[in-house]
Amino acid sequence: MVYVTRREIFSASHRLFNPGFSDKKNEEVFGKCSNPNGHGHNYILEVIVAGDIDPETGYVIDLKLLKEIIHENVLERVDHKNLNIDVDFMRGKIPTAENIAVGIWNVLESKIPSGKLYSVKLYETENNYIEYKGKQ
Ligand code: NI
Repeated sequence: MVYVTRREIFSASHRLFNPGFSDKKNEEVFGKCSNPNGHGHNYILEVIVAGDIDPETGYVIDLKLLKEIIHENVLERVDHKNLNIDVDFMRGKIPTAENIAVGIWNVLESKIPSGKLYSVKLYETENNYIEYKGKQ
């Protein structure tokens, strides 16, 4: 199995809160991330596709194509957006990195034309990242 990775960067804002919690509980659970007016991150997204090498092209997936698929289906929907309000696939979800990674996986999974989506990694900060590999 060969693994192909495309890395992208996008900027987005969010506020972590659960509308079912009281203000106090939201503050306890989410701390500064629950500030009412939100805050932003420069997210790093890594999309990994796994598959066999096509003997005719030498590719698992053409990285130019993978880039276009990520731009069209993910970046155009999230870059410079408010993840609580603007992004259809995040509606009704708390925009933690976990939920964003799963949302991106769900958007991309059926769009990969060769090989299979293997992993979505989302770095929210330099030191914190989430990896989702689909339902096991
Ligand atoms: Ni945050």
